Formats: sequence, structure tokens, C-alpha cells
Amino acid sequence: MPATVIVGAQWGDEGKGKIVDLLAQDADVVCRYQGGPNAGHTVIVDGETFKFRQLPSGIVSGKTSVLGSGCVVDPEVLLGEMDDLEQRGISTEPLRLSGNAHLIMPWHIALDGASEKRLGKLQIGTTRRGIGPAYADKAARIGIRVQDLLDPKILRQKIETALAEKNVWLQKVYEHEPFELEEVASRYEGYAQRLRSFVADTSLLVAEALDAGQRVLLEGAQGTLLDLDHGTYPFVTSSNPIAGAAATGIGIGPTRIDAVVGVSKAYVTRVGAGPFPSEMDEQVGAEVRELGQEYGTVTGRERRPGWLDLVALRYAVRLNGITSLALTKLDVLSAFDELQVCVAYRLPDGSETPNFPAHQSDFHHAAPVLETVPGWHESLDACASISDLPAAAKAYVELVEQALGVPVDLVGTGAGREQVLAKR
Ligand code: GDP
Ligand code: IMO
Ligand code: MG
Repeated sequence: MPATVIVGAQWGDEGKGKIVDLLAQDADVVCRYQGGPNAGHTVIVDGETFKFRQLPSGIVSGKTSVLGSGCVVDPEVLLGEMDDLEQRGISTEPLRLSGNAHLIMPWHIALDGASEKRLGKLQIGTTRRGIGPAYADKAARIGIRVQDLLDPKILRQKIETALAEKNVWLQKVYEHEPFELEEVASRYEGYAQRLRSFVADTSLLVAEALDAGQRVLLEGAQGTLLDLDHGTYPFVTSSNPIAGAAATGIGIGPTRIDAVVGVSKAYVTRVGAGPFPSEMDEQVGAEVRELGQEYGTVTGRERRPGWLDLVALRYAVRLNGITSLALTKLDVLSAFDELQVCVAYRLPDGSETPNFPAHQSDFHHAAPVLETVPGWHESLDACASISDLPAAAKAYVELVEQALGVPVDLVGTGAGREQVLAKR
């Protein structure tokens, strides 16, 4: 498919990095359309592990790799990641950076941490990478963009203007040390020198690639339920991970998108605070956490495991227009005699619904209606395609397809690039 979106169908960490890397083998351009270094996308190639926070996962494969205008960019993280790749013998030459993407500035990181601290028990559990404050400044039209790096005079002016306000907030509201103009300006001028050659008109680049019949992957970060508009607000990120945002985040028309691959674990995890109806009990959750190595890629925090939630997944299919699913980490469930699947929510008024509640209080109080299904208790290592799966594992995949009306075209059986089963 010429333009394919790869979108997280849960609360993030579904294995998008791995699926993007796999599909990138047959693609020409790979683009990140939103988010920043709050992401942590793992790619494992020939036993070597890469963890991308800021770069598109396609960079490992040497494909043209775009950071679109919908992204927020922390130049320090980006350059650190680029240096690391170069040291490992992977060229970062194919990177293209939208001039319209917004920069994460040091005060965004300080404000993210300070605001979380102030919220105390009510905190969102952000990654503290400055994401919310950077997007807030973008919306307030006082952000500093990548293209501002191209003119040292403009850059300095914008930093000075921003600091005049941010330092007051930091000192008066959060009792935080102020930032010093000279220090920040000279640091960002240094970043500018290193990044300027990567800045490009990425909207035009992608449009021209599509016109030329090239294959373009649009890589989402985070996941559907972390979407600012449609996720479990306020326990969400500050951008739109859903597939529709790929068009705005890159600068192409929605009619140019051909396919949407939803990535979902065979169970669910969530990191950070917020309601989670299908959350496993402590003991089973701890087992899944160990088997699936469910620790945050960016923060190292424990992820909270839950049973596969078909209500939430049905919502993700609807919001994203998912045309096929990649079901990752099916191997992790091989350890269990039987499994639970959340097929509906029971609402406070006693009714049951297959649909994701539109009102937060219904969602906060939703109880999972769990169905028990048999496990397979055998390794999936010998399977060469989805049809080779043990009968119970195949039935599990079919249950997902039937409940959602979407084909599961890929099944993950391990973390490596080659550990994916396809239909044929
Ligand atoms: P992303 O943020 O969606 O790219 O996902 P992460 O990289 O944060 O988390 C997914 C984790 O699961 C990573 O450690 C991957 O290496 C790992 N992973 C991905 N697919 C599979 C799979 O099918 N089986 C197993 N066991 N691990 C997987
Ligand atoms: P990938 O791309 C999982 C969560 C944080 C927090 C909330 C807001 O690897 O799937 P933020 O720092 O964005 O303001 O935090 O969103 N979160 C993620 N959870 N995977 C991610 O990215 C996430 N990015 C943000 O834990 O609950
Ligand atoms: Mg991740």
C-alpha cells in the first residue's frame, strides 16, 4: 500500500517500533507524525537492540526518515540518538526534519516535572520530557520551531521573549531556578549548527514520494487511548496519536492514506496513572510483567498489565479506521492454562455495553465482563505462519477478528524482526 499508517491501538508500547521496522523493509519513506521523546520504540535486528525516542524507526533500515510538523523535537535527545546510531555504524544521513515541528525547550521539561510534583496524587504520570508544555506553547502560538534554528538572531530573540515569561512562572509558581538566556541561547545555537542540514520541506517530500509511487509508512507514537481528544483524558498525552492525525502531522491530505495497521498486544499494558478496566490482579500482572519484560522503554517504570480489552480495541478500530491488525506478544500468553478476554463493560447502572463509554465517569466505574478462553501452553517458536499456531492460539486470534470485524494479518511471537507470523 503506498501510504500506510501504523497506529498504536491501546495505551502505547504495543510493539509499533517492531512492526514499523518490519514493514520498512518494503518501504521508501518512514515518517513520525506526532509525539516526541516520550515515545520509546524498540527495534531488534540480528540480536541488536535499538530504542528510539525521537527518531522514526525506519532509520535502522536506511530509509528516508521524516520527523513531521506534528512532532515536538528535543534537539539534545535527537542528537544523542543520532550520535549513538552513527557510533553503531548506522547512517543518520536519511533524516529529514520538518521546519514546522516545535522544539522542546529546557523550561518545558522543568515545567512538566514541576507541574506533576504539584499535582501530587492527581498527577498524570507523564514521562517528564516536556511534552505537555511544548504542545501547550504550540497551541498558544508562542512556541519555538525547528525553522527558528536556521536564524541565530531570531532564535535568540524568541528564547529571550519566552524566558521573560517562563522564568516568572518557574520562580514564582514552582520555586524553580530560572534559566539563563546566554546559556540556553548558546546551547541551542550549537544544536542549530548540527541540525540545520536536516531541515526540509517534509510535506512536499512526502507528497512527491507518493506522486512517484513510492511506499510511505506513517509511524504513530503513543496509542489511541492516549489521544488528547479521544483518549482517557486527562490521562493522555498532549498530541493526537490516532491515524487521522497522520495527515495533519505530515501535511498530506487524508485521501492519500490507503491503509491503517493497528498494533495491539495480545493483552494490554498501560504505564502511568488512569483507569484501566481489564487490569490483571497483582499476581498474574507480575507474571506477565516478567514474561513480557513490561518496563517502560523511556522511564523504566513498571507497566500495568491487563487482559485483552475488546471494548477498547473496538473503539480503536472505529477511531482509526483500522484496516488490519498486528497482534504482538502472543508468545507471552503461552505461559497460561487459560486466559481472560474483556468482551464488554458493565456500567454503574448495571447495563452491559460493547462500546467504549463516551463519558468519563462511566469509564472510570466500568467493570470488565470477562470471558475465559483456553490457553495453548506451548511455544510458538516453530510456527511459520498464522495457520501453524496451536488450535487454541488460532482460536484466540479468530476471536479478535470476529469481535472486531478486522483481519489480524500479523502475529508477534518474539521481539526480533523475524519473529512475526503472517497469514500465508
Ligand atoms: P512501541 O512503543 O509500541 O514501539 O513498543 P515498545 O518498544 O515500547 O514495547 C514493546 C516491547 O515488546 C519491546 O520490548 C519489544 O522488543 C517487545 N516486543 C514486540 N513485539 C513482541 C512480540 O511479539 N513478542 C515479544 N515477546 N516481545 C515483543
Ligand atoms: P510509545 O510511543 C506508553 C503516557 C505516559 C503518561 C501519559 C502522558 O512508546 O508507545 P506525556 O509524557 O506524553 O505527557 O505522558 O502518556 N505515555 C506513554 N505510554 N507509551 C508511550 O509511547 C507513551 N508516551 C506517553 O506514561 O501516562
Ligand atoms: Mg514504547
